Amino acid sequence: EKGGHDWFMLKEIEEQPQAVADTLRGRIGINGGIVLDEVRLTDQDLRDVDKIFIVACGTAYHAGLVAKYAIEHWTRIPCEVELASEFRYRDPVLDRSTLVIAISQSGETMDTLMALRHAKEQKARVLAVCNTNGSTIPRESDAVLYTHGGPEIAVASTKAFLTQLAACYLVGLHLAQVRGIKYADEVASVIDQLQRMPDAITEVLSTMDEVRALARLLADQDTMLFIGRHVGYPVALEGALKLKELAYTHAEGFAAGELKHGPIALIDEGTPVVCVVPSPAGRSVLHDKIVSNIQEVRARGARTIVIAEEGDDAVIAYADHLIRVPRTPTLLAPFVTTVPLQVLACEIATARGHDVDQPRNLAKSVTVE
Ligand code: F6R
Repeated sequence: EKGGHDWFMLKEIEEQPQAVADTLRGRIGINGGIVLDEVRLTDQDLRDVDKIFIVACGTAYHAGLVAKYAIEHWTRIPCEVELASEFRYRDPVLDRSTLVIAISQSGETMDTLMALRHAKEQKARVLAVCNTNGSTIPRESDAVLYTHGGPEIAVASTKAFLTQLAACYLVGLHLAQVRGIKYADEVASVIDQLQRMPDAITEVLSTMDEVRALARLLADQDTMLFIGRHVGYPVALEGALKLKELAYTHAEGFAAGELKHGPIALIDEGTPVVCVVPSPAGRSVLHDKIVSNIQEVRARGARTIVIAEEGDDAVIAYADHLIRVPRTPTLLAPFVTTVPLQVLACEIATARGHDVDQPRNLAKSVTVE
């Protein structure tokens, strides 16, 4: 049942190329148009949207944080991402032209459900991005886009994250197309590249032996930091969350630019810092900035674990351990950079003797507020 793996989590990590392909299947027309039949919102409804809120918890929240960069960039609609558990308690400004996207693997998360009920009471339109057919969140939403990722059994979310990203990107691209596109060439090229993500994920998975070896070296660390910028920032948060929940290791993710505003004080001799590096192409300013962040932490004794694109040679001198991922456009990088972090957490937890599929104190579906 675990497909020859020790854990469901490893099986689900390996299923990611297929899961993402299943999310995309049938939703990209031959002419590159995005087809979202299950989204029961009319093109006019989508044209009227003037604000987007993404509400979700945990890993789904991190998927939302990534999606914000893409959706805002392609659609020019302001997009906020909120922890579902905080959303309704702060009286957010919502009306008929607000689109609320509720992301949930299980479709039963009470915090997310309560956030969407609040949004509906305020007349906002709610679109669910969900993996579980017929679950409560999609049933109570105005529209649903299923991720079709297949069952996720391990408590820690892996393939759900990548499929949620793919689904949110489809929503963003669809909105951009319906509303008239500002970056037509870029959107066309992203649609093309998005369809290559399953192969790119397969490629990363084929190099994971090094990550396994690295995990054994890091197994006895009691704290680990993760840094990233742009879409690499939520990836850093997700990497830290996986490590906390599986290895029970203290882990924190930071926006790399925030280091100098406080967290850099945490760096001590040998502190492992995982650095998610953006592509040197396209966004070279960001790339150069994170390279200098890596230098800074290293100068203070950090042991750097650098996740960078093939061919990015600028990082070699500052990496104690280097994990390579295939080249992707900046906005699509999380499809590949997240995968080594999942494997790392899974293998560190295994080396520490934990039950990876059933971490202590956690449940797969959190149906209490
Ligand atoms: C982390 C994890 C949780 C869930 C969160 C939301 O690995 O599994 O953080 O992502 O509880 O769950 P869903 O997506 O079912 O609403």
